[in-house]
Amino acid sequence: MASIIVFFVCLVSLVQSYPKSSYFQDEFQHNDYFDHQHHHHYHHDHEDNEISNTLVLSHVIFRHGNRTPDSFQELYPNDPYLNETYYPYGLGQLTNAGKLREYSIGTSLRFRYKSFLNDLFLPSEVEAISTDYNRTKASLELALAGLFPTKNEQIWNPDILWQPVPYNYLPRSEDKVLLGVLCPNFLKEYDEVERSLEYRNKLKKFRKVFNYVAKNSGLNVTTFQHIYNLYFGLSTEEEYGLVLPQWTEKVWPDIITDLAMKEYSVMMATQNLRKLASGYFLKKILADTKAKMLNTNNEKKIYLYSAHENNVAQFLIMLGVFEPHIPNYGAHVIVELHQINGEYGFKVFYQNYNSEEPEQMQIPNCEAFCEFGKFVELFRSFIPDDSLCGN
Ligand SMILES: *[C@@H]1O[C@H](CO)[C@@H](O)[C@H](O)[C@H]1NC(C)=O
Ligand SMILES: *[C@@H]1O[C@H](CO)[C@@H](O)[C@H](O)[C@H]1NC(C)=O
Ligand SMILES: *[C@@H]1O[C@H](CO)[C@@H](O)[C@H](O)[C@H]1NC(C)=O
Repeated sequence: MASIIVFFVCLVSLVQSYPKSSYFQDEFQHNDYFDHQHHHHYHHDHEDNEISNTLVLSHVIFRHGNRTPDSFQELYPNDPYLNETYYPYGLGQLTNAGKLREYSIGTSLRFRYKSFLNDLFLPSEVEAISTDYNRTKASLELALAGLFPTKNEQIWNPDILWQPVPYNYLPRSEDKVLLGVLCPNFLKEYDEVERSLEYRNKLKKFRKVFNYVAKNSGLNVTTFQHIYNLYFGLSTEEEYGLVLPQWTEKVWPDIITDLAMKEYSVMMATQNLRKLASGYFLKKILADTKAKMLNTNNEKKIYLYSAHENNVAQFLIMLGVFEPHIPNYGAHVIVELHQINGEYGFKVFYQNYNSEEPEQMQIPNCEAFCEFGKFVELFRSFIPDDSLCGN
């Protein structure tokens, strides 16, 4: 993901017609998760019966599994592993650890929804969508394999309790729902934010560490985005079992991870950025939810979205429940529509593998069961028009 953003931002930065604005200060302060740690109360939801009795629809978005470095933009000029081929996986692909993790998303959802989903795979109950990346597509196939092992009459080969489950994706440039960060207007506004005096000033106090990383890596390091990209290079190399060079000891993993996370607040610094990065996704969730609520013949039960760590982080930021971190591989947000005493509402859960069960998120200014109309009121301002993307 990261390298794609860099590529487009480079293109966009050639078109420098935007005035330096001062909105950034307020937006950033408002949205700077890193200076003020928010603490939320989580509740574990162990009550399977309650889930299945009131659950109407589930939307799940997850990060792909462990992977190899994405491309040369995550690596760096002085990287001792520049020529590593990651055979047989290749660059930017799932590793076996990643496959296990994604498969486990499916098996844990099957357990959670054992009395909600049909034992059989019914195409009318499921919509599965990926971004146009090998690793998210492979991740989705794994999650679906875990969620829909063959049973009874759907067993077509007794040696393989697996069945093909169809999924869809859009080309990257058309995928507003999951890749709004590639929208032309996202890139324009992101560039404007990066060039703003306020952001430049904010970066000043990190100059020393930027220079240290620049000197040793051979990269130009002047923004959080540069560190964010490097974060993925270093973490994927390390996970692959490669020994990182000695200079990284001073900054890896703590300092680089801390700085990388700050990139999320740059990507979410303005309302338009938030609308583009996460609002199209929310818009689809609300539309699918309304369709279900209004039509008793609607058989849909679960929507699955296979995406990237920034999708998960940005969605949590938009919901107001984010605490600074980089979502782990396979991290997922579960948005459940329940009907309780005749009222429809959402319960939101987050699984980042810090505990066994997904943790329930407490949406600010709402109840743990957030009534649908109230939820829509709270998040109405994040819903973009189709034209906002500019594609
Ligand atoms: C990578 O391969 C090129 C071409 O063979 C070589 O010049 C370079 O030194 C290699 N780099 C590393 C880090 O091994
Ligand atoms: C999938 O991986 C292959 C091999 O690296 C690459 O050529 C192809 O472009 C990738 N496809 C997508 C959609 O990323
Ligand atoms: C760093 O920036 C300079 C000036 O913009 C450029 O010439 C150089 O190629 C860049 N180096 C890297 C490693 O991107």
